[in-house]
Amino acid sequence: MTMKTVLVTGGNRGIGFEICRQLDERGCTVILGSRDLEKGQETTRYLSNKVVVKQLDVTDQESVFNLYNSLLVEFGKLDVLINNAGIGEKKETHENSLLAGIKNTLETNIPGVRQMIKFSTPLLKKSGIAPHLHGAGDTSLTHVKEIMETNFYGPWRMMQTFIPLLQKSRDGRIINISSGMGELKSLTGFYPGYSLSKSSLNALTIMFSNELKNRGVSVNAMCPGWVKTDMGGPNAPLDVSEGADTAVWLATEKEIPTGNFFKERKIINW
Ligand SMILES: NC(=O)c1ccc[n+]([C@@H]2O[C@H](COP(=O)([O-])OP(=O)(O)OC[C@H]3O[C@@H](n4cnc5c(N)ncnc54)[C@H](OP(=O)(O)O)[C@@H]3O)[C@@H](O)[C@H]2O)c1
Repeated sequence: MTMKTVLVTGGNRGIGFEICRQLDERGCTVILGSRDLEKGQETTRYLSNKVVVKQLDVTDQESVFNLYNSLLVEFGKLDVLINNAGIGEKKETHENSLLAGIKNTLETNIPGVRQMIKFSTPLLKKSGIAPHLHGAGDTSLTHVKEIMETNFYGPWRMMQTFIPLLQKSRDGRIINISSGMGELKSLTGFYPGYSLSKSSLNALTIMFSNELKNRGVSVNAMCPGWVKTDMGGPNAPLDVSEGADTAVWLATEKEIPTGNFFKERKIINW
């Protein structure tokens, strides 16, 4: 049996690293993408010497192209692309981002401006002039765009670039690491930017799966569950080996369908 060549984005820590570790253990040729090459190289002491570490920032088209060119030369094909790199949501509200903007432009010149705004904001809220929502209603759109750039445009950029290499495989697969927080039916204003990025990633999964249906590449999304990582925090119930399981299964299972959203190896609703 020929072993698969698998590229994992954000492979230097968390769920991405664990996906790399499990695939390496199963004999796959793992390409571990790391935004900071040194951080990626530090992980190799826990992996076999077959693992190849490459610099990859999914928000940077040049970095993505460089990796494409180097994999084309070194491997000539790619069997599986796992879009794992992602960022969470800072608890920054619209009010905070307004304050930050005003602070940057004015505070150095006019001492006390920030204090003035800080003290007047609760009064404005009480008066109903500034509604107090803590959700989609008052989140920072600058921050939403930041999240979308990594969690949504990042995978899109990766898919666009790597499809030609995936088509050189006899069984090309794309696995998008999404989240139950993107499930359409349960969307609330809770972590609105992050949730939107994952709903959008799910929509992209459907779009690409239909586009590639007869072109030899399957495209699926999966939710790892709530996992103990830097993003998931220490209270999460799952450890990384459980969080990585479905992605590793989708990468290595003999036959998988296309255009689905998985959790615990089962299809779930969008
Ligand atoms: N943990 C959970 O409970 C949970 C639940 C549902 C879904 N997920 C999803 O699972 C995936 C992995 O999450 P995690 O918990 O393992 O997160 P994590 O521990 O915070 O790790 C995130 C990884 O993504 C990388 N990354 C961030 N921005 C990047 C960029 N622009 N280019 C390349 N790499 C980048 C980070 O690299 P640096 O080290 O350079 O920052 C890091 O390797 C994410 O897509 C997340 O949304 C996680």
